[in-house]
Amino acid sequence: MDIAARLRAAGCVFAEDETRLLISAARTPDDLATMVDRRAAGLPLEHIVGWAEFCGLRIAVDPGVFVPRRRTEFLVRQAADLARSGAVVVDLCCGSGALGAALAAAVERIELYAADIDPAAVRCTRRNVAAAGGHVYEGDLYEPLPVNLRGRVDILLANVPYVPTEAIGLLPPEARIHEAQVALDGGSDGLDVLRRVAAAAPLWLAPGGRLLVETSERQAPQSVEIFALSGLIPQVVSSYELDATVVIGTSPALQNGSGKLFSIT
Ligand SMILES: C[S@@+](CC[C@H](N)C(=O)[O-])C[C@H]1O[C@@H](n2cnc3c(N)ncnc32)[C@H](O)[C@@H]1O
Repeated sequence: MDIAARLRAAGCVFAEDETRLLISAARTPDDLATMVDRRAAGLPLEHIVGWAEFCGLRIAVDPGVFVPRRRTEFLVRQAADLARSGAVVVDLCCGSGALGAALAAAVERIELYAADIDPAAVRCTRRNVAAAGGHVYEGDLYEPLPVNLRGRVDILLANVPYVPTEAIGLLPPEARIHEAQVALDGGSDGLDVLRRVAAAAPLWLAPGGRLLVETSERQAPQSVEIFALSGLIPQVVSSYELDATVVIGTSPALQNGSGKLFSIT
């Protein structure tokens, strides 16, 4: 069987690379044939081989769980530039846990917490952040996090779903059919989850702590407004190369008479 030709005919742009990967992942010729069938039927390559490469790491990705995107490496790079060794980091809407795992690999001794509403995502994250000693919770946004994290979070990563509901039908089938709706759907303007994350962020961030979210270029001005309304000082950074836009919100900290820092919430 000419695997590359079969994948190319099924619309796989990187058919040769994918062929090499499938051959290296298959344990038997039957296994390989099944993998090729599944790929030709449109399953994401990462769900077939069981992992995705992200920031140079091999991240386990189970069926249905959001596949970490190349562009999101830009968000991790921004966070790595801001995080100090020993920082308290929360990865909200963690999916496979790729962001937290990558930040833990880039910054020494971070204290990592991750949470997601989807049990399949939580199971994946547990595997991916085990080596970093990450704590993983299941539930709606901040709700499952330990309350003693309030006011202590230095870096809050949140790659929330941000596709407007109406645009979901326009996504490639790999996402539309094989990733959970809850991982993609950001409500009517795509910003519903971001609004909820930003509104509660000042309660959880340490003075001067940062919330980092990925957004589309088109949604960036509205995301900035949402951050400002939530009391965060917004900044937009973009990567042309990765087609990535990240909004960073800093929790304000005031210098009082004694030189001590305190936050406005
Ligand atoms: C776009 S995916 C990002 C996953 C991961 N952070 C990444 O970048 O690969 C969004 C994730 O948010 C989770 N999610 C959606 N709504 C949520 C909510 N209300 N509370 C917690 N997690 C939620 C989904 O289950 C999904 O895993």
